[in-house]
Amino acid sequence: MPVVPVHDVNVAVIYYSSTGTVAELARLIADAAEHAGADVRLRRVAELAPRSAVDANPAWAANVAATADILEATHDDVLWADAVLFGTPTRFGNVTSQLKQFVDTLGGLWQQGRLADKVYSGFTASATKHGGQESTLLALYNTVHHFGGILVAPGYTDPAKFTDGNPYGTSHVGGPDTPVDAEAATAARVQAERVVRFAKAVKAGLATTS
Ligand SMILES: Cc1cc2nc3c(=O)[nH]c(=O)nc-3n(C[C@H](O)[C@H](O)[C@H](O)COP(=O)(O)O)c2cc1C
Repeated sequence: MPVVPVHDVNVAVIYYSSTGTVAELARLIADAAEHAGADVRLRRVAELAPRSAVDANPAWAANVAATADILEATHDDVLWADAVLFGTPTRFGNVTSQLKQFVDTLGGLWQQGRLADKVYSGFTASATKHGGQESTLLALYNTVHHFGGILVAPGYTDPAKFTDGNPYGTSHVGGPDTPVDAEAATAARVQAERVVRFAKAVKAGLATTS
């Protein structure tokens, strides 16, 4: 029986964030994935809102300034990745137009079959407790099926998931008085470790069949 090599894996964390909550989750997930042994690219998608809208909201403007050094996501980041974690705040229970716009530009790669066989997962934030976190992640995951991706959700695979209660992905109820906390940080770590573990398994498995 041939020995299956343990491959290094590339993880792209690609997110949109207006006021910084999802940006913070993205940073935690990227750090945890790196700690789990992955090469990581942390990338934000392009802002579509006019500058006047950003400047009218101090938290939004502050996040734009704080994340200016994070590179904008490109198609190469997705091609490079064995696993992609997409992050988006909820917008009326749905994915933000900014992240969706980036995803929609991937159509050419989808047509060539180059988005398939990768691991995908997602994370989100809302302003209210039942404000659509799960529907946002499920909407995001529709796309994964079209990609032919391998969806790796956290499920209740770690005791911590029974505390945060979101088996679909890391999430946080964010706001000025509720910064990302230890519970969300733990969820981020659990999800990142699981994604890296399965990205390694998928990569090693595919290497034996191609
Ligand atoms: C247009 C719009 C729609 C939103 N829809 C929802 C919603 O359906 N449910 C909710 O709880 N929060 C909603 N929010 C709030 C954001 O999802 C929430 O503030 C989130 O934490 C922002 O993440 P960010 O700090 O990464 O931008 C909405 C915000 C905007 C601007």
